[in-house]
Amino acid sequence: MRFAELWSGLEPIGRCARGGGYRRYSWTPQDSQCRAWFTEQAQARGLAVTADRNGNLWAWWGEPGPGAVVTGSHLDSVPDGGAFDGPLGIVSAFAAVDLLRERGAEPVKPVAVTAFIEEEGARFGVACLGTRLLTGAVTPDQARSLTDDAGMSFADAMAGAGLDPDGIGADDDLVANIGAFVELHVEQGRALAPLGHAVGIGESIWPHGRWRLDFTGVADHAGTAQLADRRDPMLAYASAVLAARRAASEHGTLATFGKVIAEPGGSNGVPAAVHAWLDARAAQEQALEQTVSAVCAEAEKAAAEQGVSLRVRQESATPVVRFDRGLRERVSAVLGDVPVLATGAGHDAGVLAARVPVAMLFVRNPTGVSHSPAEHADLADCEAGVLALAAVLEELACR
Ligand code: GLV
Ligand code: MN
Ligand code: MN
Repeated sequence: MRFAELWSGLEPIGRCARGGGYRRYSWTPQDSQCRAWFTEQAQARGLAVTADRNGNLWAWWGEPGPGAVVTGSHLDSVPDGGAFDGPLGIVSAFAAVDLLRERGAEPVKPVAVTAFIEEEGARFGVACLGTRLLTGAVTPDQARSLTDDAGMSFADAMAGAGLDPDGIGADDDLVANIGAFVELHVEQGRALAPLGHAVGIGESIWPHGRWRLDFTGVADHAGTAQLADRRDPMLAYASAVLAARRAASEHGTLATFGKVIAEPGGSNGVPAAVHAWLDARAAQEQALEQTVSAVCAEAEKAAAEQGVSLRVRQESATPVVRFDRGLRERVSAVLGDVPVLATGAGHDAGVLAARVPVAMLFVRNPTGVSHSPAEHADLADCEAGVLALAAVLEELACR
């Protein structure tokens, strides 16, 4: 099946009528529809579909076993995310399998298409939760006790979607069977367009992480509480936001507060608490640490000045990832003169890279915008991505 036809089956699921962004959060009805789409596509190709113990989906071309060549990405989205982040890798994987079959390719190794759960961490806070569980980087108890903003636990949400949360955890046998993992992903940033290339190869992922800051003050009336009497957590939070911008400029890093919840959330009241999430990324570990320390120090200082308390917790951390050099050189040899890129975006490929040889392919995003409905890749570039992925899979699985 051609890319456009495959793409059109998935495209409407979870898209908001207003704004056109995607809300495909883990273990929701939209997520179930995406998973059903995956299963249908696999079955239509005669690929055996299994959910592993963590709910990650695997569609096998050939018997599961050692040396498997695995490709895929994720189906979940950030709030009002773009259409391509995640799904592009999965649609391209099925399209690449079709192309290889049309060409009569005969893999001598098992090939699998995967969809990993909760890559964005948009519902339960920890990015790449499916691969972190699979590889043991997050324990079952840690995962089960994560909660969403409404207080529902990961375990209850997973059970509600018909999967068994008691069985989650590391699967060393499954990981040991992966000979190579290749993730195709929409480019997040704008390096390929000026270079005139539709496809790039991943070299590394910046170290990055998420921190949750809980500021607790005292709720009061906006019309009667005197300024001097207030213990306003919003002020301390505001100082932290400005500190993040300053620290990022100073250290040449990125620091973002993209999510904030004020409690109880009345427009005519001093809030009782402000919960905020800091996302920080840097080319170097040291610069990342300096950035986060500077933001936390300023947040502590501002909290003390305002008479509010502050608790800081790291929700997830990913050290610098350098993809397997040998595999990258093999991919480069197949694709020819293709740019090699570092990225500040996180991926399941980055988590798996701690255990198995991993390569990434990026498909040009003409504006570079991502985590937004404006994220885009032209159809011709998506098709070029499929050709590139098929060539890489052929090299890895058919020789
Ligand atoms: C995932 O897209 C991330 O980089 O947070
Ligand atoms: Mn993303
Ligand atoms: Mn992604």
